[in-house]
Amino acid sequence: MSKNFYITTPIYYPSGKPHMGHAYSSIVADIFARFKRLEGFDVLFLTGTDEHGLKIQNEAKKNNKDPKIFCDEISLIFRNLTKTLNLSNNDFIRTTETRHFKSVEDIWNRLVDSGDIYLGKYSGWYSVSDEAYYDKDEIEDSSGSKVSKISGSTVEWVEEESYFFKLSSWSERLLKFYKENPKFILPTSRKNEVVNFVEKGLKDLSISRTSFSWGIPVPKNKKHIIYVWLDALTNYISALNYPNIDDNKYKKFWPADVHIIGKDILRFHAVYWPAFLFAAKLSVPKRVFSHGWILSNDKKMSKSKGNILDPVEIINNYGIDQLRYYLVKEVSLGNDGSISMENLKNCINNDLANNFGNLCQRVFSFIKKNCSNKIPKINKFNKEDEKLLNTLKNNLPNLINLMNEQNLNEFIKIVVSYSFDANKYFNDAEPWALKEKNPERMKVIIFTVCEQIKNISILLNSIIPLATKKVFEAMNINKDQIYLDNINNLECFNHNIELKELNILFKKIENDN
Ligand code: MSP
Repeated sequence: MSKNFYITTPIYYPSGKPHMGHAYSSIVADIFARFKRLEGFDVLFLTGTDEHGLKIQNEAKKNNKDPKIFCDEISLIFRNLTKTLNLSNNDFIRTTETRHFKSVEDIWNRLVDSGDIYLGKYSGWYSVSDEAYYDKDEIEDSSGSKVSKISGSTVEWVEEESYFFKLSSWSERLLKFYKENPKFILPTSRKNEVVNFVEKGLKDLSISRTSFSWGIPVPKNKKHIIYVWLDALTNYISALNYPNIDDNKYKKFWPADVHIIGKDILRFHAVYWPAFLFAAKLSVPKRVFSHGWILSNDKKMSKSKGNILDPVEIINNYGIDQLRYYLVKEVSLGNDGSISMENLKNCINNDLANNFGNLCQRVFSFIKKNCSNKIPKINKFNKEDEKLLNTLKNNLPNLINLMNEQNLNEFIKIVVSYSFDANKYFNDAEPWALKEKNPERMKVIIFTVCEQIKNISILLNSIIPLATKKVFEAMNINKDQIYLDNINNLECFNHNIELKELNILFKKIENDN
């Protein structure tokens, strides 16, 4: 089995400041990327910005800026956000880079060579905000203007010469592909939407525009600009040095293991992208996982509703691990989920401060006081100790499986329950009462609970990397030991050196804060 793993986020439109929805796509992808590294995989994790098209050109104009300068500025904000979110991405791609131009031109030429492109005339509805074409049955009237029924965004009538991609000829192949690869689209509920859409019959897709200039020109007909979605989707292979398909990076990482995206861009990833790749005779990604919307005050975030949540502000107030944990604990991945500051505070207090944080803190201070600040060495467990450790150990294959199916919520629920159990074990075993009576037994309890803190920290490492790093450092566990393989490896501790100071992991949030 290959131990390589390629995961991507959507590339973001640098049309305005990033909001919580963008942060969410990235955090989710980062958690899976980090988890695969814990599993011992060589992971490539890609993110970036999607900089062409009319939407960006208009936005730049509104700001009186040249589009490239406008993109440089906002793309940098997205790049900086990768640091603020503590993402472990290996690359950040911009569609205005030369490596990407080469790649888009090449895929275009492949589609021409395969006979999948023809010149025609497009007349129909287009949403600049979604950069998407809509059929008349996907349009409705709303306060005097025409909007997309799917996204609610305004559409305009477009009539212009355009190159078309013969999408219609790929319906059967796509349906066969979905059938043969039942986990290509997850969650399954979304898969049904896509299958229904394709079963209705696909129309050829307009893949070039002539009414604006901000984009990648069609090779051999510079009057046309390549449709921004064909341009954008290709980013996933541009980052692998495509068109050089003999390149090691391409060979190693393509097809991608999973594209993490929001549900609004599923059609592009699960229909258009595989069809382009089929036509170009390139492999198709293994999975597209689409998450739901983050709702603010139960509504989709928008400038007009004034309910945009700024991730940076929340991180400055509460901390990045806190936000990462909360988002994936609270929102069921795949469904829409409301978030609120009230729930965030409760989550920080209950799950992080009172449960995992408290477990670590009380065990560390006990060791300092009663065990010369060293994790004791022991050689014999009793049934309770074994039960605590084995419950987690025996469930490890299931936990790995949950993460590989992107069932993040179930994973967290189980891991948090282990932390709760470890707290209870420590309470029930009352090591403080054994100091004089039975110091050997006390040592076993302390070792067991340390072992479990280490195991839980490895499991939570992809979700709350900063806090767990502090725990590992305090326990003198080095970077090379932070792998799933070391769960229940009883040899990880150095019993001869003192623990380092463990500062409070998660401050409790007072209610009026
Ligand atoms: N540029 C395209 C993606 C091209 S990928 C080849 C795009 N960009 S976007 O900036 O509009 O959105 C990027 C991602 O953010 C999408 O996955 C979208 O679903 C996600 N979100 C934007 N708002 C969101 C919420 N309110 N909640 C959750 N995610 C949402 O689309």
